[in-house]
Amino acid sequence: MTLEFIPMADSHAIEVKGIDSVPLNAADSQQLRRAFNDSALLVIRDLELSNESHIEFTRAFGDLVIHPLEFLRHRDYPEIIELSTSPEEPLAADDPSGDEIVAYSGWHTDLTFDPVPSLGGFLRPIEIPPESGYTAYMDAAEIYQALPDKTKQTLRGLTVIHSLLDNSDGVAKDADIDFPYEVQAMADVIHPLVFNHPHNGRPVLFISPTFTRRIVGFSQEASDQLLGELKEFAANERFSYVHVWQPNDLVIWDNWQSIHKGYGHKKKYRRVMHRTTLKGDRNLMDYLMP
Ligand SMILES: [Fe+2]
Repeated sequence: MTLEFIPMADSHAIEVKGIDSVPLNAADSQQLRRAFNDSALLVIRDLELSNESHIEFTRAFGDLVIHPLEFLRHRDYPEIIELSTSPEEPLAADDPSGDEIVAYSGWHTDLTFDPVPSLGGFLRPIEIPPESGYTAYMDAAEIYQALPDKTKQTLRGLTVIHSLLDNSDGVAKDADIDFPYEVQAMADVIHPLVFNHPHNGRPVLFISPTFTRRIVGFSQEASDQLLGELKEFAANERFSYVHVWQPNDLVIWDNWQSIHKGYGHKKKYRRVMHRTTLKGDRNLMDYLMP
């Protein structure tokens, strides 16, 4: 049976049907890699994976990242990060619902504090709550296309400083984590604000609000203003696909072309997710839109 690629209603997500088991045969693997290169988000349902086959499945796309934050790594499978919550988890600071939401994460692109940001995320649920715990994805090429022409002109050639830790805002402040020295010592990196995607040529608005610090050559104030406007423009329902997790899902996103967000879940439930991460192989500065 050949694979089927079915656009999901009112979104950029594409559901892939016809994968019964892994490893994939050569023809299916090639077809799926082609779809990955061409799309921001693939959704596969009813695919039973083990830790081993999750890793093996990802390897068909390239090398895997060992996450720099050791506490996120699965104890026995370092290629997997385990996202889980405990009852001691602090509540999300900006929980609008009053539902005691935990494990909220704001809009971001994974690992943009790395000089070569990861190319993809492969996320599957291990334990999901009966409600809440959704994940939203946006296609950052679609967002760029929707920008007014005047804004597109303004963004040409701009570059942005990204970092994992920041003294004024961001991960370190929110997460209350004692980061090891090698993480604290990570240097800032610079990425284009818009680049032409190496795989499909589409211009991508590369904002990762959790990790972007300042536009190079801008004052902090002017940078905050422009990045804030872009975030506000992007964080719009019309660009979002919200994934409601079911057992045996696998969601694959092109991390260069996606911005995602975790809505968090009600504190009374437990939620465990496993992610493998595909290593990037390009410096995106080489694809800066001039
Ligand atoms: Fe993420």
